Amino acid sequence: MERKLITLLFTAIILAWAGSASAELKTTGSGADMQVDISGFPPNMKSAYGLFKVKCAKCHGLDRTITTLQSGMAPSGSVFDIASIDAYGAKMLRKPDAEMSKQDVKTVNELMRYMLDEAAK
Ligand code: HEC
Repeated sequence: MERKLITLLFTAIILAWAGSASAELKTTGSGADMQVDISGFPPNMKSAYGLFKVKCAKCHGLDRTITTLQSGMAPSGSVFDIASIDAYGAKMLRKPDAEMSKQDVKTVNELMRYMLDEAAK
């Protein structure tokens, strides 16, 4: 368990480091405690982040999504770009016990587009 945690932390650090050159998506914390610094986000994106924080941290840490946004690559190895955001959202919605509505995913997808844009700056 501890080893798994260390491996996870290490991966997050490497990803954060690798992404830091181009990624302008500021984050705080690491591993499962990772959060995006939303102080500069517009109000509608701030409120979407509130939803994201609740709905998208049920099965994995927010870091899974954040590092994916920063690297443009999903941990499973496929490209994560603007065009694939809806498909990922739909995939998450289909998971058993996802406990989110289509509208939740739509809102989060808009946030994903915004954050992916920010990460590319
Ligand atoms: C019901 C559980 C569950 C919920 C809720 C959930 N996810 Fe996931 N997510 C998973 C699993 C399991 C994986 C691992 C890859 C897979 O099986 O698709 C994953 C992987 C990911 C990945 C990495 C993609 C990959 O192929 O590895 C991203 C990005 C992601 N989720 C984003 C989100 C977002 C955004 C939300 C909220 C809208 C969300 N997840 C909600 C279960 C969930």
